[in-house]
Amino acid sequence: MFITFEGIDLSGKSTQAKMLYSHLKKNNKKAILVREPGGTVISEKIRDILLDKSHSKMFSLTEFLLFSAARQQLTEEVIKPHLKKGYFVICDRYYDSSTAYQGYGGKVPMDTILRGNKIATNGLKPDLTFFIDIDMKESAARRKKAGKSKDRMEQKKIQYFNKVIKGYRELAEKEKSRFKRIDGRKPIEDIQNEILNILRKRHENV
Ligand code: ADP
Ligand code: TYD
Repeated sequence: MFITFEGIDLSGKSTQAKMLYSHLKKNNKKAILVREPGGTVISEKIRDILLDKSHSKMFSLTEFLLFSAARQQLTEEVIKPHLKKGYFVICDRYYDSSTAYQGYGGKVPMDTILRGNKIATNGLKPDLTFFIDIDMKESAARRKKAGKSKDRMEQKKIQYFNKVIKGYRELAEKEKSRFKRIDGRKPIEDIQNEILNILRKRHENV
């Protein structure tokens, strides 16, 4: 089963992805946890290019193609082989991030995004996607509390992120059975239980 986590920065995706991974491992399931952009030596190098603050001139389309290149490598090198071997593959972000950020936020035309996503994934789709939804106010408050500095993507304007959030919400409306919107302001344990309850409806013994 292929499970992805989506949301804006500091929504709590990584926390939930790690908790789900630990839960599965504790229950003796075969599982791996990867992140995007990244998860392979090549994709991690592309990640460094994408997040480098000195690359302020990067165009939206360049950005999209780099995210897509990192995704293609991760998909072929790690995700597909593990799915074939019956693993739960948990991915912190996947192509919905490109649709929300580069498409809704960065204004790369939607037909380009859809075609690019298909090429990068060779048509692979997550079975289940958890969209942890918080607004920019909450994200900013958490950044301050955690004392986390901003990478190149995070330096974009607030209007950009509001479009990203709107994009995610639209995606969740469009693909209700795959794309599950979860209120990210709830306590961490409540969100984990919600995630496990949704997962148990799809997969017994989880
Ligand atoms: P992301 O991967 O989406 O950037 P993280 O999982 O790294 O987010 O969490 C970002 C910050 O928010 C961390 O400091 C984390 O402890 C905190 N956090 C995560 N989930 C919640 C939650 N449900 N409520 C409050 N704070 C949270
Ligand atoms: P990530 O490491 O998940 O950031 P965080 O842990 O802070 O949530 O992702 C790096 C950044 O890249 C993040 O700002 C979102 C962005 N991104 C895109 O714009 N498009 C994409 O396709 C992906 C995968 C990520």
